[in-house]
Amino acid sequence: MPDIAYEQARHGSSIGQPLTRRDGFLKVTGGATYAADNRPEGLLHAVVAVSRIARGRVTHLDVAAAKAHPGVVEVMTGANAPRLAQDPDAKDNPFMFRLDLLQNDRVRYAHQPIAVVIAQTLEAATEGAELLAPRYEVDPPRIGLDAEAPQAPEVVGAGDKAVAARGDVEAGLAQAERTVETTYETPAQYHNALEPHAIVAQWDGDRLIVDTPSQGLAMAKMRLAGLFGLDPKKILIRSPFLGGGFGSKGSLSGPQVLGVMAAKLVGAPVKLVLRREQMFGPVGHRAETRQTLRLGTDASGALTALDHHTLTATSRYDDFYEPASAISRYLYAAPALSTRHSGVRVDTGTPLFMRAPGEASGSVALEGAVDEMAEACGLDPLEFRLRNYAESEPISGRPFSSKALRECYAQGAARFGWDKRAKQPRSMRDTAGRLIGYGMGTALFPALMMQAEARAEIRADGTGTVALGAHDMGQGAWTALAQIAADGLGIDLDQLDFQSGTSDLPNAGIAGGSAHTATAGSAIHSAAASVLAQLAELATNDARSPLYGAGNAGVYARGGRLVRRDDEGRSEAFSEILNRAGRAAISAQGQGAADPASREAYAMHAHGAVFAEVSVDPDLGQIRVTRLVGAFAAGRIVNPRLVESQYYGGMIWGVSFALHENAVVDPRSGRVMNANLGEYHVPVNADVPSIEAILVEEHDPHVNPLGIKGVGEIGITGTAGAIANAVYHATGIRVRKTPITLDRLLG
Ligand code: MOS
Repeated sequence: MPDIAYEQARHGSSIGQPLTRRDGFLKVTGGATYAADNRPEGLLHAVVAVSRIARGRVTHLDVAAAKAHPGVVEVMTGANAPRLAQDPDAKDNPFMFRLDLLQNDRVRYAHQPIAVVIAQTLEAATEGAELLAPRYEVDPPRIGLDAEAPQAPEVVGAGDKAVAARGDVEAGLAQAERTVETTYETPAQYHNALEPHAIVAQWDGDRLIVDTPSQGLAMAKMRLAGLFGLDPKKILIRSPFLGGGFGSKGSLSGPQVLGVMAAKLVGAPVKLVLRREQMFGPVGHRAETRQTLRLGTDASGALTALDHHTLTATSRYDDFYEPASAISRYLYAAPALSTRHSGVRVDTGTPLFMRAPGEASGSVALEGAVDEMAEACGLDPLEFRLRNYAESEPISGRPFSSKALRECYAQGAARFGWDKRAKQPRSMRDTAGRLIGYGMGTALFPALMMQAEARAEIRADGTGTVALGAHDMGQGAWTALAQIAADGLGIDLDQLDFQSGTSDLPNAGIAGGSAHTATAGSAIHSAAASVLAQLAELATNDARSPLYGAGNAGVYARGGRLVRRDDEGRSEAFSEILNRAGRAAISAQGQGAADPASREAYAMHAHGAVFAEVSVDPDLGQIRVTRLVGAFAAGRIVNPRLVESQYYGGMIWGVSFALHENAVVDPRSGRVMNANLGEYHVPVNADVPSIEAILVEEHDPHVNPLGIKGVGEIGITGTAGAIANAVYHATGIRVRKTPITLDRLLG
């Protein structure tokens, strides 16, 4: 059974190769054009003015002063902003978020756009925005998880059930030999992609051309079509490169739409780029959580019950609930299991998907609670996990599509040297007297599939094209998808014209949920397979071909030739086949999507195990992560260099989650007080001295024809908890609140 799928997925020379990024040279030489690098003729500069209050109304803007400033062309406010064809508060799917587009004077969160100043220069627009000197009618903001009594949302994340359970948790706890009840808190975090949200918008009559970073080109096009009442065919979005997205560029944000509105208002191309502090409001964030877990075990240390409750916050005007309890549905095999969410509404911008949404926050709490339970049982944390990890999905009972987790535990532990871990906390020191701690965490991320289309072509000169509107956030889509394309068509990479990154190409879906390579790759594979089938049809039915009579399934493609399976010495070049048939080219469309039958039969996830070593100054509480080893199984590895890089990125975010990131909100103003990269801390190179990712081999025959799972998000899960557990092991102090900073360790 497995091998049918693998046979269809021809092994060429590209998939599996550790190629460097095909766009790497462009990027390091400044040749890659990011949205804000575009300078069309007659370009004007727009700067957003944002609210300093979190709730209320704008009562006055000094538009006259701004307009009087030299170089200022126009000021867009609620009074003159173009009216829209659609209510920006309309919402008909979970990926559509309510936007603030100057259609009224109300303020729903701090850093909400309240005006846009358009000028000849960036400097003039910036100064004009300062001169607006807004006045407000202020209502007191409602901030924090205790702002109101919690509500019970029906769905969390992108439409997952808020509650999922099996068995009787209370009974499971009652019969347990040992129980642990523990509460973990995670703060709000803000997407801080290197490239802020930026847009260059140009109108040409009813045609609209925009350059803007997007993780979902087709969705962005439909959003603009709806808001401006345009035929989607009249809209072109170009997004060849993104300087990071992390979820914040999945759906079009308000400020991006404001750039389009500004261009419409002034009748000229407009560039609008958010400043760093303006990113802390209108473009989403990871919401804070307070997670309470209750666990029970029997005398052998096997779980009898697991209850995971998440309290989180959403905005006052829209719904996005961090699905933090969801991870407990997949990892540990408690016979009684309950996962629940509740939410409060606060005066902030709406939270959003942020790299490993749900799993990142949830795994910190779950892995901490599991560590506490292991200790209560007197078991080594690895032994406890080996005893309790799920062999099939605990709630649904469906078998996992592959079972590589045990292998991840084994390889990671061996490489790390887990057996050298002292049992007692606060009992390991280095030669300088610093406390040393070892901690571990299990990693998991669902192997999702979205929907995508692609177009493929082979021409009579032997070259090929694959085209789709895919998205490269920096993860390497230009390279990995081209590798799949070259192998799919059976040509060398240098014979391939790979087109991507614009909305006029086939809809490649969303670069999100760690599903882009699997989904877009499947579409490419299917389009290419159709091209080859047509080519094989031509050759094997033609008596003049050496492939005559081999049958469609009797040939495979490699190096621009079709080769007989029964006699590899007999082959024919694509160009010969096409020329003899008098055809200039053969092309086809293909689709990538989940196979409902296999999704029904199997639970699909990528798995991993992360091991962390920390060193803590016993007097000052200063924490350093000294070593990280992660072992991950994520199906077929399209490009080991890029995959390793994704794991590193995720694991470094794990460091960030555990020790650094923390958006501090002033409850009086509702403003993020550290809305800059000086005070909103993220790790730098010196924060991660040694990091290693092991690519555990895994063949998953069910997940999709190519056997690909996602690698972009799983690295955070496991890592953050492993570090927190290592800090406990080093110090004997359990800090149940991230980031774990030295004051929390000493206080
Ligand atoms: Mo990701 S948070 O699905 O871009």
